[in-house]
Amino acid sequence: SPLIRAPSQQLGPDYRPTEEKPTATVSTAPKINNLHILNQTPQLIALLTMIRDINTGRADFIFHSNRISRLLVEEALNHLPVLPHTVNTPVAGRTYAGVKFEGKICGVSIMRAGEAMEQALRECCRSVRIGKILIQRDEETSKPRLFYDKLPEDIKDRWVLLLDPMLATGGSALMAVDVLRSKGVPEDHILFLNLIASPEGVQNFADKFPKVRVVTAFVDEGLNDKNYIVPGLGDFGDRFFTL
Ligand code: URA
Repeated sequence: SPLIRAPSQQLGPDYRPTEEKPTATVSTAPKINNLHILNQTPQLIALLTMIRDINTGRADFIFHSNRISRLLVEEALNHLPVLPHTVNTPVAGRTYAGVKFEGKICGVSIMRAGEAMEQALRECCRSVRIGKILIQRDEETSKPRLFYDKLPEDIKDRWVLLLDPMLATGGSALMAVDVLRSKGVPEDHILFLNLIASPEGVQNFADKFPKVRVVTAFVDEGLNDKNYIVPGLGDFGDRFFTL
């Protein structure tokens, strides 16, 4: 498929005059139900610029990708249902009409790279349960194969935040959703969080699991012949865990 050029856009608040706004490449915006792309703010674009840079070392890669993961978790949590909840404040006789989250959640990371997003989830949801799924390409068939899973036993009663930083073809993530579905998790209780997605990946997801919400920071131009996302950031797991 032909690569889609990502558009350029001026970044910054409306009150700032045009000549003071830098121009940057922002996410493409495929019109797909249940695809949620983070607002292309100057902060987010600066964080993405940092982790895409070939000259960014491991410590900075970890720090800045953690910040993007935090933004993704915060956005995903906004998609969960809340109930009205009124509290008494310490100020005499005054109440505040607010809300509280009504369900149980858990994280599921697709090993190894998805584990890089666990810290952000723990920072937002204290003592959250986190399961793991290991899917790898079978050497003989070159299809993704499930090697290992360890999931909360009551996962079917939870909202699941599925974590994998790069949505390339979607092969592993689609298999991970199959595993969750086989444990009884409703499709519309799954949110798939990733930092960078390809147009092919989000389309594959929409075709197979239209009710899974995909929350991403950026939809890139496409995939190269090795199924790396372009322009992308290279191998996320290598840059986070080893390089
Ligand atoms: N996984 C990565 O780490 N990078 C890509 O570009 C695609 C999949």
